[in-house]
Amino acid sequence: MANVVILGVFVADTAYRAPRQPKMGETILGESFALGPGGKGSNQAVAAAMAAGGGNVSAHFITKLGQDPFADMALTTWQKAGVKPAISQHADSYTGAAYIFVESGTGNNAIIVSPGVARTISPTDIDSHSDLVGSASVFVTQLEQPMDAAVRALEIAKKGGARTVLNPAPADTLPDGMLALCDFVTPNESEAEALVGHPVVSVDDARAASKLLRDQGAGASIITLGEQGALYDDGTVSEHVPAFSAGAVVETTGAGDAFNGGFAVAIAEGQDPVSAVRFGCATASISVTRAGTAPSMPSRAEINALLNSA
Ligand code: RIB
Ligand code: NA
Repeated sequence: MANVVILGVFVADTAYRAPRQPKMGETILGESFALGPGGKGSNQAVAAAMAAGGGNVSAHFITKLGQDPFADMALTTWQKAGVKPAISQHADSYTGAAYIFVESGTGNNAIIVSPGVARTISPTDIDSHSDLVGSASVFVTQLEQPMDAAVRALEIAKKGGARTVLNPAPADTLPDGMLALCDFVTPNESEAEALVGHPVVSVDDARAASKLLRDQGAGASIITLGEQGALYDDGTVSEHVPAFSAGAVVETTGAGDAFNGGFAVAIAEGQDPVSAVRFGCATASISVTRAGTAPSMPSRAEINALLNSA
Protein backbone atom coordinates (compact mmCIF):
# COMPACT_ATOMS: atom_id res chain seq x y z
CA MET A 1 0.00 0.00 0.00
CA ALA A 2 1.38 3.44 -0.96
CA ASN A 3 0.53 6.36 1.32
CA VAL A 4 -0.31 9.83 0.07
CA VAL A 5 -0.03 12.03 3.17
CA ILE A 6 -1.44 15.55 2.99
CA LEU A 7 -1.01 18.32 5.56
CA GLY A 8 -3.35 21.27 5.41
CA VAL A 9 -6.54 22.99 6.39
CA PHE A 10 -10.24 22.17 6.30
CA VAL A 11 -12.71 25.04 6.23
CA ALA A 12 -16.38 25.34 5.40
CA ASP A 13 -16.76 27.06 2.04
CA THR A 14 -19.50 29.68 1.87
CA ALA A 15 -19.89 30.40 -1.84
CA TYR A 16 -21.78 33.45 -3.08
CA ARG A 17 -22.59 33.57 -6.78
CA ALA A 18 -23.10 37.10 -8.10
CA PRO A 19 -22.46 39.04 -11.32
CA ARG A 20 -19.72 41.09 -9.64
CA GLN A 21 -18.15 41.87 -6.26
CA PRO A 22 -19.67 44.67 -4.17
CA LYS A 23 -17.68 47.89 -3.82
CA MET A 24 -16.75 49.03 -0.30
CA GLY A 25 -19.89 50.31 1.42
CA GLU A 26 -22.18 48.76 -1.19
CA THR A 27 -24.74 45.95 -0.84
CA ILE A 28 -25.70 43.92 -3.90
CA LEU A 29 -28.06 40.97 -4.36
CA GLY A 30 -26.47 37.58 -4.97
CA GLU A 31 -27.92 34.89 -7.24
CA SER A 32 -27.27 31.90 -5.00
CA PHE A 33 -25.46 30.65 -1.93
CA ALA A 34 -23.94 27.28 -1.11
CA LEU A 35 -22.29 25.89 2.01
CA GLY A 36 -19.94 22.96 1.60
CA PRO A 37 -16.63 21.37 2.56
CA GLY A 38 -13.44 23.17 1.46
CA GLY A 39 -9.93 24.17 2.45
CA LYS A 40 -7.09 23.48 0.05
CA GLY A 41 -5.51 20.59 1.97
CA SER A 42 -8.80 18.87 2.65
CA ASN A 43 -9.91 19.31 -0.97
CA GLN A 44 -6.63 17.75 -2.12
CA ALA A 45 -7.11 14.82 0.27
CA VAL A 46 -10.66 14.27 -1.02
CA ALA A 47 -9.44 14.47 -4.63
CA ALA A 48 -6.66 11.99 -3.83
CA ALA A 49 -8.92 9.49 -2.08
CA MET A 50 -11.45 9.63 -4.93
CA ALA A 51 -8.75 9.37 -7.59
CA ALA A 52 -7.19 6.41 -5.79
CA GLY A 53 -10.62 4.80 -5.97
CA GLY A 54 -9.89 2.22 -3.28
CA GLY A 55 -6.89 0.86 -5.18
CA ASN A 56 -3.36 0.51 -3.86
CA VAL A 57 -3.02 4.10 -2.64
CA SER A 58 -4.50 5.46 0.56
CA ALA A 59 -4.97 9.18 1.29
CA HIS A 60 -4.26 10.53 4.78
CA PHE A 61 -5.00 14.05 5.97
CA ILE A 62 -3.33 15.86 8.87
CA THR A 63 -5.05 18.91 10.38
CA LYS A 64 -6.68 20.45 13.45
CA LEU A 65 -10.43 21.03 13.83
CA GLY A 66 -12.72 22.68 16.35
CA GLN A 67 -15.59 20.76 17.89
CA ASP A 68 -18.49 22.27 16.04
CA PRO A 69 -20.84 21.71 13.09
CA PHE A 70 -18.12 22.57 10.53
CA ALA A 71 -15.87 19.90 12.11
CA ASP A 72 -18.73 17.42 11.75
CA MET A 73 -18.96 18.43 8.08
CA ALA A 74 -15.24 17.66 7.71
CA LEU A 75 -15.50 14.21 9.30
CA THR A 76 -18.52 13.25 7.18
CA THR A 77 -16.83 14.49 4.00
CA TRP A 78 -13.67 12.46 4.63
CA GLN A 79 -15.61 9.34 5.55
CA LYS A 80 -17.64 9.51 2.33
CA ALA A 81 -14.55 10.09 0.16
CA GLY A 82 -12.36 7.52 1.92
CA VAL A 83 -9.85 9.99 3.42
CA LYS A 84 -8.07 8.72 6.54
CA PRO A 85 -7.93 11.60 9.05
CA ALA A 86 -4.97 12.20 11.41
CA ILE A 87 -6.43 15.07 13.40
CA SER A 88 -6.99 16.62 16.80
CA GLN A 89 -10.16 18.46 17.84
CA HIS A 90 -10.16 21.55 20.07
CA ALA A 91 -13.29 22.65 21.91
CA ASP A 92 -11.67 25.97 22.91
CA SER A 93 -11.33 27.14 19.29
CA TYR A 94 -13.25 26.76 16.04
CA THR A 95 -13.16 25.24 12.58
CA GLY A 96 -12.54 27.91 9.95
CA ALA A 97 -14.52 29.12 6.96
CA ALA A 98 -13.91 30.67 3.57
CA TYR A 99 -15.81 33.44 1.83
CA ILE A 100 -15.90 32.59 -1.87
CA PHE A 101 -17.15 35.03 -4.46
CA VAL A 102 -18.05 33.19 -7.68
CA GLU A 103 -18.50 35.45 -10.70
CA SER A 104 -21.63 34.15 -12.39
CA GLY A 105 -20.56 34.98 -15.96
CA THR A 106 -17.21 33.16 -15.84
CA GLY A 107 -17.20 30.81 -12.84
CA ASN A 108 -14.00 32.55 -11.65
CA ASN A 109 -13.51 33.16 -7.96
CA ALA A 110 -11.99 35.36 -5.25
CA ILE A 111 -11.53 33.95 -1.75
CA ILE A 112 -10.92 34.97 1.86
CA VAL A 113 -9.95 31.94 3.96
CA SER A 114 -9.92 32.06 7.77
CA PRO A 115 -8.32 28.81 8.95
CA GLY A 116 -9.63 28.95 12.56
CA VAL A 117 -7.83 26.51 14.86
CA ALA A 118 -5.70 25.27 11.94
CA ARG A 119 -3.79 28.57 12.27
CA THR A 120 -2.16 27.02 15.34
CA ILE A 121 -0.72 23.92 13.63
CA SER A 122 2.89 23.94 14.85
CA PRO A 123 6.08 21.98 14.25
CA THR A 124 5.32 20.16 17.53
CA ASP A 125 1.96 19.08 16.10
CA ILE A 126 3.79 17.76 13.06
CA ASP A 127 6.23 15.86 15.29
CA SER A 128 3.26 14.08 16.87
CA HIS A 129 2.46 12.72 13.38
CA SER A 130 6.07 11.98 12.43
CA ASP A 131 5.45 8.23 11.94
CA LEU A 132 2.71 8.92 9.40
CA VAL A 133 4.64 11.71 7.63
CA GLY A 134 7.78 9.56 7.61
CA SER A 135 5.83 6.68 6.02
CA ALA A 136 4.57 8.76 3.07
CA SER A 137 5.27 7.64 -0.49
CA VAL A 138 4.09 11.08 -1.56
CA PHE A 139 3.75 14.03 0.83
CA VAL A 140 1.78 17.16 -0.09
CA THR A 141 1.31 20.48 1.64
CA GLN A 142 -0.01 23.95 0.87
CA LEU A 143 0.41 27.18 2.83
CA GLU A 144 -2.92 27.73 4.61
CA GLN A 145 -1.40 26.47 7.89
CA PRO A 146 1.74 28.11 9.33
CA MET A 147 4.93 27.99 7.28
CA ASP A 148 7.10 26.46 10.03
CA ALA A 149 4.77 23.46 10.23
CA ALA A 150 4.95 22.98 6.45
CA VAL A 151 8.76 23.11 6.57
CA ARG A 152 8.97 20.61 9.44
CA ALA A 153 6.66 18.18 7.64
CA LEU A 154 8.62 18.48 4.38
CA GLU A 155 11.85 17.72 6.29
CA ILE A 156 10.38 14.60 7.92
CA ALA A 157 8.79 13.40 4.67
CA LYS A 158 11.99 13.92 2.70
CA LYS A 159 14.05 12.09 5.33
CA GLY A 160 11.57 9.20 5.15
CA GLY A 161 12.09 8.92 1.39
CA ALA A 162 8.82 10.49 0.20
CA ARG A 163 8.40 12.39 -3.07
CA THR A 164 7.43 15.81 -1.77
CA VAL A 165 4.96 18.25 -3.32
CA LEU A 166 4.56 21.89 -2.29
CA ASN A 167 1.45 23.64 -3.57
CA PRO A 168 2.47 27.21 -2.63
CA ALA A 169 -1.07 28.50 -2.08
CA PRO A 170 -2.00 31.03 -0.96
CA ALA A 171 1.07 32.83 -2.32
CA ASP A 172 3.64 33.69 0.31
CA THR A 173 7.37 34.31 0.63
CA LEU A 174 9.14 31.00 1.17
CA PRO A 175 11.94 30.68 3.71
CA ASP A 176 15.41 30.08 2.27
CA GLY A 177 16.01 26.45 1.52
CA MET A 178 12.36 25.40 1.52
CA LEU A 179 12.22 24.64 -2.21
CA ALA A 180 15.24 22.35 -1.83
CA LEU A 181 12.93 20.10 0.24
CA CYS A 182 10.46 19.87 -2.68
CA ASP A 183 10.61 17.34 -5.49
CA PHE A 184 7.68 19.16 -7.10
CA VAL A 185 6.41 22.71 -6.64
CA THR A 186 2.94 23.38 -8.12
CA PRO A 187 2.01 27.09 -8.22
CA ASN A 188 -0.73 28.51 -10.41
CA GLU A 189 0.00 31.60 -12.55
CA SER A 190 -0.36 34.21 -9.79
CA GLU A 191 1.48 32.10 -7.20
CA ALA A 192 4.33 31.57 -9.68
CA GLU A 193 4.44 35.33 -10.29
CA ALA A 194 4.65 35.97 -6.53
CA LEU A 195 7.55 33.49 -6.24
CA VAL A 196 9.63 34.67 -9.20
CA GLY A 197 8.66 38.35 -9.48
CA HIS A 198 7.53 38.43 -13.12
CA PRO A 199 4.08 37.91 -14.62
CA VAL A 200 3.22 34.34 -15.66
CA VAL A 201 0.57 34.36 -18.35
CA SER A 202 1.88 32.32 -21.27
CA VAL A 203 3.53 28.91 -21.45
CA ASP A 204 6.83 30.68 -22.25
CA ASP A 205 6.48 32.82 -19.10
CA ALA A 206 5.90 29.60 -17.16
CA ARG A 207 9.05 28.06 -18.66
CA ALA A 208 11.11 31.07 -17.52
CA ALA A 209 9.53 30.95 -14.05
CA SER A 210 10.22 27.25 -13.81
CA LYS A 211 13.92 27.80 -14.35
CA LEU A 212 13.99 30.28 -11.44
CA LEU A 213 12.10 27.88 -9.15
CA ARG A 214 14.59 25.10 -9.98
CA ASP A 215 17.48 27.52 -9.38
CA GLN A 216 16.02 27.96 -5.87
CA GLY A 217 16.22 24.20 -5.32
CA ALA A 218 12.92 22.69 -6.52
CA GLY A 219 13.39 19.35 -8.28
CA ALA A 220 10.73 20.07 -10.88
CA SER A 221 8.08 22.71 -11.24
CA ILE A 222 4.54 22.24 -12.47
CA ILE A 223 2.88 25.56 -13.15
CA THR A 224 -0.88 25.22 -13.55
CA LEU A 225 -2.27 27.58 -16.18
CA GLY A 226 -6.06 27.32 -15.92
CA GLU A 227 -7.63 26.54 -19.30
CA GLN A 228 -4.11 26.31 -20.78
CA GLY A 229 -3.39 23.19 -18.71
CA ALA A 230 0.01 22.91 -17.01
CA LEU A 231 3.71 23.14 -17.74
CA TYR A 232 5.96 20.40 -16.34
CA ASP A 233 9.66 21.26 -16.29
CA ASP A 234 12.49 19.45 -14.53
CA GLY A 235 15.31 20.97 -16.57
CA THR A 236 15.65 17.87 -18.77
CA VAL A 237 12.01 17.26 -19.65
CA SER A 238 9.85 20.32 -20.35
CA GLU A 239 6.32 19.50 -21.44
CA HIS A 240 3.16 21.53 -21.84
CA VAL A 241 0.12 19.38 -20.99
CA PRO A 242 -3.12 20.93 -22.31
CA ALA A 243 -6.31 20.97 -20.25
CA PHE A 244 -9.01 18.47 -21.18
CA SER A 245 -12.47 19.50 -22.23
CA ALA A 246 -14.94 17.74 -19.95
CA GLY A 247 -17.94 20.06 -20.43
CA ALA A 248 -19.05 23.61 -19.69
CA VAL A 249 -17.18 25.37 -16.88
CA VAL A 250 -19.40 25.96 -13.84
CA GLU A 251 -16.90 26.84 -11.07
CA THR A 252 -13.10 26.83 -11.13
CA THR A 253 -12.70 27.05 -7.34
CA GLY A 254 -10.72 24.01 -6.18
CA ALA A 255 -9.36 23.14 -9.64
CA GLY A 256 -5.80 23.48 -8.33
CA ASP A 257 -6.69 21.17 -5.46
CA ALA A 258 -8.12 18.60 -7.86
CA PHE A 259 -4.89 18.79 -9.85
CA ASN A 260 -2.66 18.29 -6.80
CA GLY A 261 -4.71 15.40 -5.39
CA GLY A 262 -4.82 13.58 -8.72
CA PHE A 263 -1.14 14.23 -9.43
CA ALA A 264 -0.09 12.89 -6.00
CA VAL A 265 -2.01 9.64 -6.51
CA ALA A 266 -0.53 9.10 -9.96
CA ILE A 267 3.01 9.62 -8.59
CA ALA A 268 2.27 7.24 -5.70
CA GLU A 269 1.11 4.65 -8.25
CA GLY A 270 4.48 4.92 -9.98
CA GLN A 271 3.38 6.87 -13.05
CA ASP A 272 6.10 9.03 -14.60
CA PRO A 273 5.76 12.77 -13.79
CA VAL A 274 4.38 13.85 -17.19
CA SER A 275 1.71 11.12 -17.09
CA ALA A 276 0.94 12.19 -13.54
CA VAL A 277 0.49 15.79 -14.73
CA ARG A 278 -1.93 14.54 -17.41
CA PHE A 279 -3.81 12.60 -14.72
CA GLY A 280 -3.93 15.74 -12.53
CA CYS A 281 -5.15 17.88 -15.44
CA ALA A 282 -7.92 15.37 -16.19
CA THR A 283 -8.97 15.43 -12.52
CA ALA A 284 -9.08 19.24 -12.54
CA SER A 285 -10.88 19.44 -15.89
CA ILE A 286 -13.78 17.39 -14.52
CA SER A 287 -13.93 19.32 -11.23
CA VAL A 288 -14.53 22.66 -12.99
CA THR A 289 -17.70 21.34 -14.65
CA ARG A 290 -19.37 21.10 -11.22
CA ALA A 291 -20.21 23.51 -8.41
CA GLY A 292 -18.25 23.47 -5.17
CA THR A 293 -14.73 22.34 -4.31
CA ALA A 294 -14.50 18.99 -2.47
CA PRO A 295 -17.96 17.91 -3.76
CA SER A 296 -16.78 18.39 -7.35
CA MET A 297 -13.87 15.91 -7.18
CA PRO A 298 -14.27 13.09 -9.74
CA SER A 299 -14.15 9.34 -9.20
CA ARG A 300 -11.35 7.19 -10.64
CA ALA A 301 -13.78 5.83 -13.23
CA GLU A 302 -14.58 9.35 -14.45
CA ILE A 303 -10.89 10.29 -14.66
CA ASN A 304 -10.06 7.11 -16.57
CA ALA A 305 -12.97 7.68 -18.97
CA LEU A 306 -11.76 11.21 -19.76
CA LEU A 307 -8.14 10.08 -20.25
CA ASN A 308 -9.26 7.26 -22.54
CA SER A 309 -11.49 9.51 -24.63
CA ALA A 310 -8.75 12.12 -25.22
O1 RIB B 1 -8.52 26.08 -3.42
C1 RIB B 1 -9.85 26.34 -3.09
C2 RIB B 1 -10.02 26.46 -1.60
O2 RIB B 1 -9.31 27.59 -1.16
C3 RIB B 1 -11.44 26.66 -1.16
O3 RIB B 1 -12.06 25.44 -0.83
C4 RIB B 1 -11.32 27.60 0.02
O4 RIB B 1 -11.67 26.98 1.22
C5 RIB B 1 -9.87 28.04 0.05
O5 RIB B 1 -9.17 27.42 1.05
NA1 NA C 1 -15.71 22.83 -9.01
